[in-house]
Amino acid sequence: MPIFAKNRFMQFIKNYVEQHKQRLLDELFVLLRFPSISADPRYKEDVFKTADFVAQKLKDAGADNVEVVTTGGYPVVYGEKIIDSSQPTILVYGHYDVQPPDPLELWETPPFEPTIRDGKIFARGACDDKGQFYMHIKAFELMLQTNSLPCNVKFMIEGEEEVGSDNLAPFVIENKDRLKADVVLISDTAMLSLETPSLETGLRGLSYLEVEITGPNRDLHSGVYGGAVANPATILCQMIASLHDKNNHILIPNFYDDVLSLSEEERELLNSAPYDDEEYKKDLGVSELWGEKGYTTFERTGTRPTLEVNGIWGGYIGEGAKTVLPSKASAKISMRLVPNQSSEKITALFKTHFEKIAPAGVTVKVTPHHGGEPVVTPTDSVAFKAAQKAIEESFGKSPVITRGGGSIPIVALFEKELGIKTVLLGFGLDSDNLHSPNEKYDLANYYKGIETIPLFHKYFAELSSAT
Ligand code: BES
Ligand code: MN
Ligand code: MN
Repeated sequence: MPIFAKNRFMQFIKNYVEQHKQRLLDELFVLLRFPSISADPRYKEDVFKTADFVAQKLKDAGADNVEVVTTGGYPVVYGEKIIDSSQPTILVYGHYDVQPPDPLELWETPPFEPTIRDGKIFARGACDDKGQFYMHIKAFELMLQTNSLPCNVKFMIEGEEEVGSDNLAPFVIENKDRLKADVVLISDTAMLSLETPSLETGLRGLSYLEVEITGPNRDLHSGVYGGAVANPATILCQMIASLHDKNNHILIPNFYDDVLSLSEEERELLNSAPYDDEEYKKDLGVSELWGEKGYTTFERTGTRPTLEVNGIWGGYIGEGAKTVLPSKASAKISMRLVPNQSSEKITALFKTHFEKIAPAGVTVKVTPHHGGEPVVTPTDSVAFKAAQKAIEESFGKSPVITRGGGSIPIVALFEKELGIKTVLLGFGLDSDNLHSPNEKYDLANYYKGIETIPLFHKYFAELSSAT
């Protein structure tokens, strides 16, 4: 790679981004127009087409051995550039699938017609994760075009992250050699803001399941039968309400057994990040925050396990009134897990407990969906230091260290199956409306990401060769 005086490389990257600004955006817009909703089988063809498009863009950028690899579900797009086998290798992971856009009527502009308002790109997937993984393809293009790629790169972009990555474990296990790398680099998390850049060093695990309560063998007239039989909707609400105590501690026996608590120093470090409960409340339109007593907001979202209802239904939910005592009521429940909890164990604990607390007169069915294990990424590795240096240089500030509340189940799998640790180099914002209407990604974050990634490559290569 050409030798640059300090800061010259960044200036050079900035110029490239400036020159190609419009094209970098137009290409992302094409990607955002694909409705690659992995959860909804009606979009099957679109999801496959998105994989082909991503593969084409990898080829266009200059990747070799590009392949749309068939799995039991949606394909994994793979591509690589091996410049020198004695140099370190970065494995870039991302996902081209997106969450369903519902409820559609709350979008100000259609989810698959990307629109710029206020310097922000509005579209489903703008931040999670199309806008973020595409930065890596463009940064890669930039490095190849300017002969500044300092190490080997492999790309692995999957299409089932939003539905639990069920077919990814077999892919990783069957492709251990192909995926060999020194670090996994992922942009699929958030930072505090452009003014306060940060690096997430952890992700929560997940146990997701569905419960169904059945009472009478059919829906009943709520006047004729009301008062005579247990109402599954009422019972379900009572059962769910009993899962937290007044301090919002979870009441499933043994739920907290394996939770690792943080040291005072770790708590202090996390709580030193600039943050204001008042602003947080204002942004969310709530008058009070809620959660486990004894922990700050950051601690509750990043380091403590939780149990949330994600959806609940039963009986009549159409227009107007219909007097009916439902035969069934259901809910979707997620539990976010922290080190050292195991999703399998927690799912089993939930199932046993939920079945046990059901009163006579109803039956309970608990159906597990997907799970994932929590991770904490190292902060003393060469890769993490490279990320810190890259951010320091492009933002002019060292990053604050945080823990993310979301889950990317593949991260624990990379560690277990490939023995590779991850760096979470996220450029999203918590306020980007992920999984919600009006998802957005700031143009500034998109371009900043493209500028920061080559610096990560540069420092990762430099620091690796120094050790
Ligand atoms: N990118 C998110 C995870 C995320 C978001 C991590 C923000 C940290 C900060 C990812 O696409 C996601 O939504 N994951 C799911 C889990 C999956 C198994 C459905 C999640 O966290 O709900
Ligand atoms: Mn994501
Ligand atoms: Mn997501």
